[in-house]
Amino acid sequence: MSKDTFYITTPIYYPSDKLHIGHAYCTVATDTIARYKRMRGYDVMYLTGTDEHGQKIEEKAKAKGLSPKEFVDEIVAGEGGILDLWKLMNVSNDRFIRTTDDYHVASIQKIFKKMYDKGDIYKSSYKGKYCTPCESFWTDSQLDGGKCPDCGRQVHEAEEEAYFFRLSKYGERVQALLESGTFLEPASRVNEMINNFIKPGLEDLCVSRTSFSWGIPVDFDPDHVVYVWVDALSNYITALGYMNDEHDDFSKYWPCDVHFVGKEIVRFHSIIWPAMLMSLELPLPKKVFGHGWLLIDGGKMSKSRGNVVDPVVLSQRYGVDSLRYFLMREFPLGSDGNFTNELLINRINSDLANDLGNLVSRTVAMVIKYFGGTLPKERREEDIDRELIEMAGSLRDIYETNMESFATQNAMVEVFKVVSRANKYIDETMPWILAKDEENTPRLASVMYNLLETIRICVSLLQPFMPESCEKVFAQIGADEKDRLWENAGTFGVLNPELTVQKGETLFPRIDLSKELEALENLNPAPETEENRAEPITIDDFAKVEMTVCKVLECENVKKSDKLLKFQLDDGSGKTRQILSGIAKFYKPEELVGKTVVACTNLPPRKMMGQESCGMIISAEKEDGLHLLILDDSVPAGAKLC
Ligand code: ME8
Repeated sequence: MSKDTFYITTPIYYPSDKLHIGHAYCTVATDTIARYKRMRGYDVMYLTGTDEHGQKIEEKAKAKGLSPKEFVDEIVAGEGGILDLWKLMNVSNDRFIRTTDDYHVASIQKIFKKMYDKGDIYKSSYKGKYCTPCESFWTDSQLDGGKCPDCGRQVHEAEEEAYFFRLSKYGERVQALLESGTFLEPASRVNEMINNFIKPGLEDLCVSRTSFSWGIPVDFDPDHVVYVWVDALSNYITALGYMNDEHDDFSKYWPCDVHFVGKEIVRFHSIIWPAMLMSLELPLPKKVFGHGWLLIDGGKMSKSRGNVVDPVVLSQRYGVDSLRYFLMREFPLGSDGNFTNELLINRINSDLANDLGNLVSRTVAMVIKYFGGTLPKERREEDIDRELIEMAGSLRDIYETNMESFATQNAMVEVFKVVSRANKYIDETMPWILAKDEENTPRLASVMYNLLETIRICVSLLQPFMPESCEKVFAQIGADEKDRLWENAGTFGVLNPELTVQKGETLFPRIDLSKELEALENLNPAPETEENRAEPITIDDFAKVEMTVCKVLECENVKKSDKLLKFQLDDGSGKTRQILSGIAKFYKPEELVGKTVVACTNLPPRKMMGQESCGMIISAEKEDGLHLLILDDSVPAGAKLC
């Protein structure tokens, strides 16, 4: 018999910067649900990816002297990029889509054409308020105090010839969908959508742009690129093979069981996306779940505030599983949560080091000490066992109810109630006293078995949250394959009665709170912001920048890049310095050999198109392009600018 399917998605992330803990939160949540469903026997499709088009990316790439594709390639697939982050965080996605993938591009053109042919997309001209960072047009009524309602930034008047999607036509059907009960969760978001967007009247949506070119061209009118949200939202179906031959499981997995999204993009997923699907005459997703944000000091995490928390740093210091557990245990998924390092460390210490870690290591150590590692067959049950056995035996049902409603926090609270109960059981039964009298051997064996069985059940249910640590616990308690299964997580007494335990490493070492807080504080990068860059700096700040006169020894184009030139420079140090610079559009390599240029030489080396670049050659930017700062030949290599 074929298995039931379960299709779950994260939003596809903008590769405009490195991802932070807020992105990891969303991905770990979906990963945990996906793993839970797999454990339950579903045929799961878990999709994530990257949303690579749009003006913001185009501008960022330009500022770095790269083509947009070079820029996103580095952030998505480069060393330490998004793909590496998900691998590090043990994210078990079944598919990864990039919106620059050829098959997606071709599918979007067909999707756009289909809606156009149906009359749901038409050409007109757009006048309105535009927010560049959010790539969104807003009506006056949607503005918040005259500013962008999403990011609070200044908007500006813009007018362009554009294609429009007849969103207004689908208003009533979308409202009925929102009111239908379970489509959008948590329920509080339903009123927000209806009051803020549906009731004021849905206006047709501008779905093409001509003001920039980094997007998917409308194939029948190539001056226009498809609005990035039409491109991005459609990933959920193109990744399954809708309108392409790259994949062929659209009919198997669509409609989606749940789109997990952050609260600020619920509007796109619960209004625009269903309307697009109605236009395409496709079934609608079963659910959109809008999760809250991880906040810092009550505000949003952002590079410009300098309060971005790096999941790589935290995973490396405390372990991926500890971080995953913390994210799912500390904050209810539907609400915002305030992240602090202190909360993280306290949670790891209390739940993982003290409660779970201790329970496992004490139990295994006792089985080794009292029985040489292998439990004897004889048993003696007592009344005092009943409470623990009942609690552990009924845990799976309570856990299931919570997990089915994405209440991961409650699910974890319930598991750890049983873990605490087991620790208390050790104090109540006092195995060290039982061990003093050989007559008590059967009783001692029962106590140990009950503890191991309780650990097995708890750890079975922790697998979606902390996959690697659970494997280690299973190995320590001598569990075999069947002992990890969902089918056996609701039954007490599954472990082999004469099992052998193994001593293992300490699973969750205790963290010294004050030392760690200080260490993390010192790691905090200084805020790097556009706003900051314009602020006055001190002479000491200026003195930190090392500007060195260099002679160009060699210069050549970088393969597969129409932007980059590769320089070999004499910087006066006696060693040749290699720098890559995004000026290929403005200079021929041969005309630069022998020239005297200026480079910033104390930037950390970085990889561009797989090649190391040690510094930055200084040029001036004007509307007509980049102009290298070329000095008089009499200035010697190695001279410093001061
Ligand atoms: O919105 N806490 O991409 P994105 C929790 N490309 N979640 C957070 C967060 C935080 N501090 N910061 C960001 C996009 N997120 C679009 C999606 S889908 C068709 C297109 C979440 O990289 C955010 O809420 O800006 C969103 O759900 C996700 O990260 C991706 O954000």
